[in-house]
Amino acid sequence: MKLSKSSLFKKKILLCVCAGISAYKSIILLRLLIKSGAEVKVILSPDAHRFVSPLVLSVLSKNKVFSSFTNSENEWNNHVEYGIWADLIVVAPATANTISNIAIGASNNLLLSTILSSTCPVFIAPAMDHDMYLNKITQENIKKLKKNSFLFIDVESGELASGLIGKGRLSEPETIVTKLETFLSNMLPLSGVNCLVTAGPTFEKIDPVRFIGNFSSGKMGCCIANELIMQGATVELILGPSTESVNENINLNRVVSAQEMLDISLEKFEKQDIIIFSAAVSDYKPKIIHHKKIKKKSDDLNLSLNKTEDILKTLGRRKKNQILFGFALETNNEIESAKRKLEDKNLDAIILNSLNDKGAGFGFDTNKISIIDSNFNIKKYPLMSKVELSKIIVKQATNMFFKRFDIKNKSVK
Ligand SMILES: Cc1cc2nc3c(=O)[nH]c(=O)nc-3n(C[C@H](O)[C@H](O)[C@H](O)COP(=O)(O)O)c2cc1C
Repeated sequence: MKLSKSSLFKKKILLCVCAGISAYKSIILLRLLIKSGAEVKVILSPDAHRFVSPLVLSVLSKNKVFSSFTNSENEWNNHVEYGIWADLIVVAPATANTISNIAIGASNNLLLSTILSSTCPVFIAPAMDHDMYLNKITQENIKKLKKNSFLFIDVESGELASGLIGKGRLSEPETIVTKLETFLSNMLPLSGVNCLVTAGPTFEKIDPVRFIGNFSSGKMGCCIANELIMQGATVELILGPSTESVNENINLNRVVSAQEMLDISLEKFEKQDIIIFSAAVSDYKPKIIHHKKIKKKSDDLNLSLNKTEDILKTLGRRKKNQILFGFALETNNEIESAKRKLEDKNLDAIILNSLNDKGAGFGFDTNKISIIDSNFNIKKYPLMSKVELSKIIVKQATNMFFKRFDIKNKSVK
């Protein structure tokens, strides 16, 4: 498995810097976070500007850096909004003073108020003199914070700014980043996993105003793409003409025709770990596309159609280790047709939805599906919302993926 992206990719990280001698390391930490693809904002404790340049932090983070409740225009630097914005807060370096203030629930500066009002995970990386660190009160504060779900990045031993040798050095920025990444990837099981989803119909042009298409809304595939992103995956969505909106972190590739969907699928396919092909691709396209509108005549219009290339079959032939799921929409002989499709297209599972079921299929917010795997095990589900079903489909695909790559201790909720 290629873990292509850091689990910090596109995460919103609030870096809180305290007034300690190792605050200079926060610049390196910030650089590493940005390099990992995180969006970073920085808050300083009131005295931290004496240890590290707010200008440097602001330039590197491409965001304003604040340390007090109001800015120079006397506007409020809203600590509640910072807390809501952040996916994760990291306090590095965390002074003994700030640690004890967090432990008593103090909120008398912007940094403390933000931490007190936040609901996301908060990592604390202490840095201080050896005796300050080992002082019973500091240790009790740390214990109390750990009990209250604060996460600690342990200090390192070595030479301290005081000239003494002992415990209390700020953990190296690389170590901090690795710990954050590990935490996030455990929190989001599909972090670093590449997924491709296709959704919606395709439209095959007859002339500039007419096309051959189908009634697919793209809802099911968009729900699947959204669910994959929620589980931390990197998601490419190839979406035919559809009015559905999707999570902003999805890499959206808009297409119209089957040929465009094929071209982008082939371009993206090799990099993917999980592919869920839910698009309702047109099986036929007009042999000739008229570049001017065909005039309405008194007699019938006969169209000559060519078959479009079977995208799923083409991808199935190229499949190496990827997990490949397809959809089947059948009206008769459903299970047998779906099984044939599963084998013919070299799929790992096929999701059958039937037009015979009320509330299932094109356009509805609900669907009724059966999942058939390559051993022909069939799981049938009742009529459910497409959002709920996307969770079931993603869970089945990712569990197969974890099993294939022998990835232990990971599962999708
Ligand atoms: C030169 C210098 C270095 C300091 N280094 C540290 C340190 O590494 N860790 C620490 O806990 N306090 C250190 N302090 C003390 C803090 O700056 C002081 O407790 C301050 O009130 C902390 O404010 P803050 O927690 O709001 O950032 C240092 C003070 C000075 C003058």
